[in-house]
Amino acid sequence: MQLNLFKFVFDIMDKEYSFSYKLFKSSTELVSNDKQLVSKAIEAMNNAYAPYSKFKVGASVKLSNGEIVLGNNQENIAYPSGLCAERVALFYAGAMFPNQSIETLCIVAKGDLVPETALLSPCGSCRQVMLESESRQNIPIRVILVNQDDSVIMVDSVKYFLPFGFGPELAK
Ligand code: THU
Repeated sequence: MQLNLFKFVFDIMDKEYSFSYKLFKSSTELVSNDKQLVSKAIEAMNNAYAPYSKFKVGASVKLSNGEIVLGNNQENIAYPSGLCAERVALFYAGAMFPNQSIETLCIVAKGDLVPETALLSPCGSCRQVMLESESRQNIPIRVILVNQDDSVIMVDSVKYFLPFGFGPELAK
């Protein structure tokens, strides 16, 4: 495991953004609870409905009561009607367990849409939803991204994924 620091400065707002992330060469290096989340996300990914993009995404969400809920991408012939795996999982958690906080979100994907070595990072709309899930509960949500080459990026809060996200923070 390698601990890295990501940093950039946004001159106009005189703000510096930095966060540390853990990089694992393989998901086999993870602790057993996290490995379980990865295998649950893979299970969800394999059940994704993605006949149009052929890009299957799976997400697992660990709640504070220990429950693990799953989501996968659900596509539709009217393309914009589909939904990403992350939002399916987060909205499902909100619908079924509204009083539980989310501890960890794990994301896996497979398909030719992105190269095997690319970082599998959530899309902008999912980041916006991830951000609001976190600010609603006031407890950071840890994110585990499993790339197609099985390398893993682990970040301690979803806020690092969307520095300029829409919301009251930017108005300050
Ligand atoms: N997709 C996700 O499920 N999550 C993301 O963060 C990015 C993209 C899905 C949407 C669509 O079904 C397929 O992947 C191709 O974009």
